Amino acid sequence: MVQLSLPKNSKLSSGKKWPAQSGGRTKTFKIYRFDPEQDSQPSWDSYEIDLDTCGPMILDALFKIKNEIDPTLAFRRSCREGVCGSCAMNIGGRNTLACTKGIDEFKGSVISISPLPHLPVVRDLVPDLSNFYAQYASIEPWLHTSTPEPEKEWTQSPEDRDKLDGYYECILCASCSTSCPSYWWNGDRYLGPAVLLQAYRWLIDSRDDADKDRLDRLEDPFALYRCHTIMNCANVCPKGLNPAKAIAETKKMMVERA
Ligand code: SF4
Ligand code: FES
Repeated sequence: MVQLSLPKNSKLSSGKKWPAQSGGRTKTFKIYRFDPEQDSQPSWDSYEIDLDTCGPMILDALFKIKNEIDPTLAFRRSCREGVCGSCAMNIGGRNTLACTKGIDEFKGSVISISPLPHLPVVRDLVPDLSNFYAQYASIEPWLHTSTPEPEKEWTQSPEDRDKLDGYYECILCASCSTSCPSYWWNGDRYLGPAVLLQAYRWLIDSRDDADKDRLDRLEDPFALYRCHTIMNCANVCPKGLNPAKAIAETKKMMVERA
């Protein structure tokens, strides 16, 4: 696993330190802080937390900090169940979901938390995902059909439905794309593992009739072919998916149609 770097243009200084308010078992959370409206440069603020009065997950610690110590801390979350993808961040040097990562999975007295790397930062742990979502929209992630509309729903055999397993579960958290060096260096033109996994999910959907158009859109030296099978994507995916496999299968489809 490569060492993940912090967002672009970071010149970090050590920031404020917040000691624990009570004794007992404690852990220090070293958190990337940056508010472009207030700060010229980011800093690491350190919050010492009493673990006996904190829930078990990293997201619980972030809530404890925000609710009891420092209400200025900004982070995204919604479902708290590993479903919405919004709490993805870099925790202990690895992209993952704050809501499904246990505090006790980290040994040592300090856990560092920073936003998903190599993205502009809106504030603190909130990255700017505008480019990521624009790339997702570019693959037209919805059903394209040329057959007459059925009276009820578009049906699919159980076998064809099974082919979507390993792909439909993607929650678009962007952990994979932002751990991919190819995406770091060419994120403006390379679609990255998450979006390419989604593109493949539609390519293999038996109800979809737009294979040719979908492949045409990916036929580009950067969009698809900047994947060099580094495999960080599969290593970090908190849902256990393998975007590199989807990319390899898409490349195979390109060869087979040539
Ligand atoms: S493939 Fe995994 S890591 Fe990538 S966006 Fe989907 S759920 Fe997140
Ligand atoms: S809050 Fe929804 S995935 Fe973590």
